[in-house]
Amino acid sequence: MSCCHHYALAAGGDAVFSVDISAITFGPGCLAEAGDFARNLGLRRVALFTDARLAASEHVDIVRRALIEAGLEVVLYTDVTVEPTDRAFRDAARFAAEGQFDGYVSVGGGSVIDTAKAASLYASHPAEFAAYVNAPLGEGRAVPGPLKPHIACPTTCGTGAECTGIAIFDWVEKGVKTGIVSRRLRPTLALIDPTTTWTLPAAVVAASGFDVLSHALESYTALPHTCRAKAERPSLRPMSQGANPWSDFGCEKALQLTGSYLERAVRDATDHEARDAMMWAATLAGIAFGNAGVHLPHGMAYAVAGGVRDFRAPGYPQEEPMVPHGMSVIVNAPAVFRYIADACPDRHLEAARWLGADIQGATPIDAGEIVARRLIELMRMCAIPNGVGGVGYDERDLAKLTAGAWAQQRLIKNAPKAVSQEQLCGLFRNAMGYW
Ligand SMILES: [Fe+2]
Repeated sequence: MSCCHHYALAAGGDAVFSVDISAITFGPGCLAEAGDFARNLGLRRVALFTDARLAASEHVDIVRRALIEAGLEVVLYTDVTVEPTDRAFRDAARFAAEGQFDGYVSVGGGSVIDTAKAASLYASHPAEFAAYVNAPLGEGRAVPGPLKPHIACPTTCGTGAECTGIAIFDWVEKGVKTGIVSRRLRPTLALIDPTTTWTLPAAVVAASGFDVLSHALESYTALPHTCRAKAERPSLRPMSQGANPWSDFGCEKALQLTGSYLERAVRDATDHEARDAMMWAATLAGIAFGNAGVHLPHGMAYAVAGGVRDFRAPGYPQEEPMVPHGMSVIVNAPAVFRYIADACPDRHLEAARWLGADIQGATPIDAGEIVARRLIELMRMCAIPNGVGGVGYDERDLAKLTAGAWAQQRLIKNAPKAVSQEQLCGLFRNAMGYW
């Protein structure tokens, strides 16, 4: 397929694409509107999900007060963990089922929002835990009906979890990170207040900012929806349907904003213009990847985050070793884009230009290198570790990393070109270090 006809229909492809998004309210101070929105949704008794660190924050206080002032009964749940496990999801689901809530409000990062999604799912549609988890690890069963209203209030500028129907967790006994994916999981309303980012540590803005960047870059370069095999029935069209004209919009703007503002937002917490711009970029990229899907850098990130040994990132809780999500994604990205750019070089060059690279005189064969160099430049400016090796891995880990990523077939198949297990191993080898 030529890039000039990016959405030309392939044999057996899907000529149609769907757009599913949460309702969005964006702007400084909008957390205080949570009560009115909740009342309008008909809610009377809500579970307010957050984590122990955020529980005493101003953000949670503002939302809780707004809900109470609107006449709602609010029960706080603070047992959410960073990078939640299946156990964390099950505990939250039990709390939700016992609480008899008529809706959910979540205030936090992706972990908090995803935990609220899972709790709401199992409370409304009880089943064995594996039932709704992605196949082949779980049964991949369809969610049988709607969930209760969920107002999601992000406090980091990264995951886009407030706009997606995806809930990610560590499945401890299986030793993998996987997720539950359904349109039904998408929050009813995303309440996005960019001032929540003003107090974030630089390292958190960096990691979550690279998550935003990669959501946009992966969605923009994903397999076009017209090349994905058409689903048996329209209702089975996946949310990760591949690149499409709708998601392209969000990707373009998110990449431009990230190219202009990421470094500024990391360097200076008082640069509110930059931090607000990154929150808007996160929203746009979240909408885009919620409808297009990400691919290899995220697929590989599951293995990088899941197999962590002793790496601890500055600015994050230090009790347990952890590679923050956005960091686990971006360390793979230069190697991936060097490899896949020949599938649609024009798109890669365009994306590189939006990110701030000089593409004057560039030819299609330069596309992968130009994207990779710009990514590496941004990574170094924002103190991201030097590749997969920089977060504690070496050549001896290649087999394990490859096996972990190979399990993420949903993501691997959304790449613009096919990748074998051997090629995936090569990508990890090339991602070990960049400078
Ligand atoms: Fe992500």
